[in-house]
Amino acid sequence: MDFHIFPFVLVAIFILHGSCYSHKGSYEFMKDATLAPTMARFDYIVIGGGTTGCALAATLSQNARVLVLERGGSPYENPRAMDIDNFYNTLFNITPDSWSQPFISEDGVFNVRARVLGGESVLNAGFYSRAEESFVEKSEWEMEEVEAAYEWIERKLVFKPQVGGWQSAFRDGLLEAGVLPYNGFTLDHIVGTKIGGTTFDPAGHKHSAADLLAYANPHMIDVYLHALVHKIIFTTRGGDQRPKAYGVIYQDADGVFHKAELAENAMNEVILCAGALGSPQLLMLSGVGPKAHLESHGVNPVVLDLPMVGQGMADNPMNSVFVPSPAPVEMSLVEVVGIPKFHSYIEGLSRVSLANNLNSRFFDGVLNLLNKTSFSTTSITNILKSIDLHFMDEMEVDGWIVTKVDGPLSRGYLELRNKNPDDNPSVTFNYFQEPEDLERCVKGLKTVMKVIDSNAFSRYKYPNATARELLNLMLSRPINLRPRHESALTNLTQFCIDTVITIWHYHGGCQVGKVVDKNYKVFGIDSLRVVDGSTFFKSPGTNPQATSLMLGRYMGQKILRERNALRKKNEDYSIIKDETNIFSSSSK
Ligand SMILES: Cc1cc2nc3c(=O)[nH]c(=O)nc-3n(C[C@H](O)[C@H](O)[C@H](O)COP(=O)(O)OP(=O)(O)OC[C@H]3O[C@@H](n4cnc5c(N)ncnc54)[C@H](O)[C@@H]3O)c2cc1C
Ligand SMILES: *[C@@H]1O[C@H](CO)[C@@H](O)[C@H](O)[C@H]1NC(C)=O
Ligand SMILES: *[C@@H]1O[C@H](CO)[C@@H](O)[C@H](O)[C@H]1NC(C)=O
Ligand SMILES: *[C@@H]1O[C@H](CO)[C@@H](O)[C@H](O)[C@H]1NC(C)=O
Repeated sequence: MDFHIFPFVLVAIFILHGSCYSHKGSYEFMKDATLAPTMARFDYIVIGGGTTGCALAATLSQNARVLVLERGGSPYENPRAMDIDNFYNTLFNITPDSWSQPFISEDGVFNVRARVLGGESVLNAGFYSRAEESFVEKSEWEMEEVEAAYEWIERKLVFKPQVGGWQSAFRDGLLEAGVLPYNGFTLDHIVGTKIGGTTFDPAGHKHSAADLLAYANPHMIDVYLHALVHKIIFTTRGGDQRPKAYGVIYQDADGVFHKAELAENAMNEVILCAGALGSPQLLMLSGVGPKAHLESHGVNPVVLDLPMVGQGMADNPMNSVFVPSPAPVEMSLVEVVGIPKFHSYIEGLSRVSLANNLNSRFFDGVLNLLNKTSFSTTSITNILKSIDLHFMDEMEVDGWIVTKVDGPLSRGYLELRNKNPDDNPSVTFNYFQEPEDLERCVKGLKTVMKVIDSNAFSRYKYPNATARELLNLMLSRPINLRPRHESALTNLTQFCIDTVITIWHYHGGCQVGKVVDKNYKVFGIDSLRVVDGSTFFKSPGTNPQATSLMLGRYMGQKILRERNALRKKNEDYSIIKDETNIFSSSSK
């Protein structure tokens, strides 16, 4: 290296490094809730510092006092846990306060939700891809503002993946299977095969929504961790007046309860960002939801009978196949995606492996959860007998090709199990209830089989194994708790039903038009919005996180614009009043 340029290289490395880690793993305004006052006032109280909540709170703090209450801890406490090599370890590491909280839907499918600042953007596979244009149109969002909000996110979190051998072969296999045209690297949702964005940087470190808090005004925001919100509190002002949210009650890790209230200003709001499960659950626990259901769980008082809370929950069905490879494969999560004309998406992951024992520990934890579902003990025993549990002890998969059904059209519901906000509510997704979802799944699987059998992919598949044989092996794997049918060996429709798992894109318990209006304000209640994945009428794009992040920024900007407009109007009004009435200054 030329001696003279050496200092410059050092400076450049420092700057590059600095841009990746613009803050050293913490923020002054982030504290444990045990340090919170018993009572404090803010302009906005954001419940849930997750994917959407962090983007929203950072934005609001530019011009208002913001409180963020997150039930989990800090992702910066263990930054290595977010590295690409630890994706599965972190996901499968389940303890009472780990970042990953498992749940099992009543459909018999294992699932997880997040419990950490940054939410599921901390746990996820990092794939980043924007929503389809029709999603933006149907949401009645302003296209230019949406564009600006996506860009704000992307400047901080999104990278171009370095596509290796396995992902390249997978991409070429998709092209050979007819998922055309090839669109190269793009964040846009367009028909064909493409390389999308990733929140993993080139060194394999994931950047989560928590990093967006670096955009926050540190003097205007408080973030409390291990702050479990128990309920939103309302004034009802008697008579037939609308209820108005005016604060929240939350609990710290020592079990101490705290209160936070909105400061006196009609523009101030409580904003629920607790995620697809957390938001409908917390509305219900606060007395907003289907009246009879709330009463049966002793929720008192019922503030508003809102029957659609928790209705319309959906999870996009995913079906998948493990493909052992004779050639070594790189470790990759989702980088390439196939977007065919029919409504299914195809994605691939390589070198899936888990630290020793994690699998069986996860499985034990999950089996304990079964006590809480409504499965009968005999049906569970029968299911467990029919699947090969030992497979889990030595899980090592070279290639994993998956298909996700767009939408979906099938819908379910969420119900309370108890009054503990940290416990999982009961969720039923009704996978494949709508025949169209099944048709989409079958088409997706046919394309997956073509990719596996393609020439382009042949290097990563044993020549003696056919795609159909590999598919059928999935029927004996403990990937879900659903009954298996002999006919699934030859009938792809049955195969879809028997081997459905989740891609973790569940959404929809507080949908726009059903629970919130198109400005995300809860129907019938003042000063309360829901802004997160629970409001989606379908899963946006191939994968939702880009749009969840964008929505936080977009709504933050919109709320601040409304706030400024009203402030301006009041100022103009008070100037007029001051000019016309010399006594007006004493009235404020
Ligand atoms: C394993 C996995 C892989 C995924 N892979 C991808 C991918 O590659 N690409 C992609 O686009 N999407 C992916 N997703 C989906 C995507 O990450 C989520 O859809 C999205 O992040 C959800 O954002 P959200 O803001 O709605 O909820 P969340 O991010 O879950 O935020 C909700 C937050 O609220 C907190 N909370 C809940 N209840 C309370 C309470 N009572 N008090 C205080 N806090 C509370 C939670 O702890 C959480 O932090 C994946 C998800 C998972 C789980
Ligand atoms: C679940 O039920 C089994 C059998 O009834 C019992 O042994 C086990 O302790 C239960 N687990 C939990 C977490 O309740
Ligand atoms: C295919 O070949 C590999 C290696 O030669 C072998 O391990 C595997 O069992 C074979 N599979 C089948 C289905 O014959
Ligand atoms: C395949 O399975 C589905 C679901 O059980 C069933 O409705 C259909 O009739 C089956 N098709 C054939 C050809 O058997």
